[in-house]
Amino acid sequence: MELLLLFLSFCFLTLSGLTFEPTVVVKEGDSAILPCSLNTNVNIESALFDWKKVEQHSNKEVFLYDKADVYSNGRPGQVEQFKGRVSHFPEELEHGNASIRIENTKVADSGNYTCEFPRIQPEKIFHIELIVGAAPEPVVSILDGKGLLECRVKGAFPKPTVEWWDSSNKTVPSDKKEISEREHRFYITLQTTVSNTGRYRCVTTQEEIHHQISTDTFVALNEQTVIVKEGDDAILSCSLKTRESIESKPFSWTKEGPAGQKKVFLYDTSNNDLTGQDKQFKGRVSNFPEGLKHGDASITIKNTKVTDTGKYICSFSHLQPKRNAEILLLVDALSGTGMIKATVLSVICGMIGFFVAV
Ligand SMILES: *[C@@H]1O[C@H](CO)[C@@H](O)[C@H](O)[C@H]1NC(C)=O
Ligand SMILES: *[C@@H]1O[C@H](CO)[C@@H](O)[C@H](O)[C@H]1NC(C)=O
Ligand SMILES: *[C@@H]1O[C@H](CO)[C@@H](O)[C@H](O)[C@H]1NC(C)=O
Repeated sequence: MELLLLFLSFCFLTLSGLTFEPTVVVKEGDSAILPCSLNTNVNIESALFDWKKVEQHSNKEVFLYDKADVYSNGRPGQVEQFKGRVSHFPEELEHGNASIRIENTKVADSGNYTCEFPRIQPEKIFHIELIVGAAPEPVVSILDGKGLLECRVKGAFPKPTVEWWDSSNKTVPSDKKEISEREHRFYITLQTTVSNTGRYRCVTTQEEIHHQISTDTFVALNEQTVIVKEGDDAILSCSLKTRESIESKPFSWTKEGPAGQKKVFLYDTSNNDLTGQDKQFKGRVSNFPEGLKHGDASITIKNTKVTDTGKYICSFSHLQPKRNAEILLLVDALSGTGMIKATVLSVICGMIGFFVAV
């Protein structure tokens, strides 16, 4: 029911500028409540109301209530499409509420419906539009440790747009997109490769029906060597392979140097004394709060300086051995000469990394 309410949204479309028509939007397979109510709050237990689906040639009988006599009592007339799927709300009748519920909706149920009170003078007719096919929550997966992400959207109509967004809501270009259409439903798979640790969101939009839904994922990339231009931000990745939550577990980052270790960052919810951070890093280091529940202890060092170059160690004090990751950060002062230098640097880093590993 909660799910239904989540996906059941009412929009109001202007018809003639004077009248408004409610539109109900649901995912295929969910139930839909089509609203219809006499504003007078008059008891309609002994009234007659008739629901029809508007079709080009002849309208289809959906549901009829006549003084407690309904189709489910064996009354003929209801079209096959709706048999066994439509019910009213008996306890609501005394408040003049003739709403119905259609179970297990199908894309073919989409269309315009009327709710009529033929015996009331003047005759009352209400118009309601039902749209079945709102995209469900996209299913997101991380396909490898190198930042290949996949998003799948199933059974949506009308055709949605699907995009990957980064944490600042910018579209990430996609590598591969597959679209298939089966029985008026669209199935879309979108792959992209991201190169930075952070939160990513797959966003599905169906503009025609004002429906947008998204799923987030957190990507932790395990780079051993990070090269940045001076002044840029550097992300140092570190995460538990088990991806278990570290929201209440302490972790720290230190930088090794000739004069010993410098404290770079400490996360510890049980300790109010978080002093001791080296002044070199004051105000420049932050972690990814959203990553904590997935075991991610990565940090960002903002506005890097050449003196930040060095070996960084990420440790989890609740683990044995404590040391978890070593990352080499190279801050490149002579930016602009581009690729060649980066390549040379990465070769050097690879060699240093090799010795570190040994
Ligand atoms: C009519 O009843 C339905 C089902 O209980 C409910 O969702 C809807 O809000 C009611 N409408 C009014 C106007 O009370
Ligand atoms: C339902 O009615 C609205 C307004 O008259 C119209 O724009 C829309 O196309 C109709 N939908 C269907 C499925 O016929
Ligand atoms: C991204 O979009 C979401 C929802 O649309 C919003 O809540 C969030 O603040 C946006 N973030 C940024 C960085 O603009």
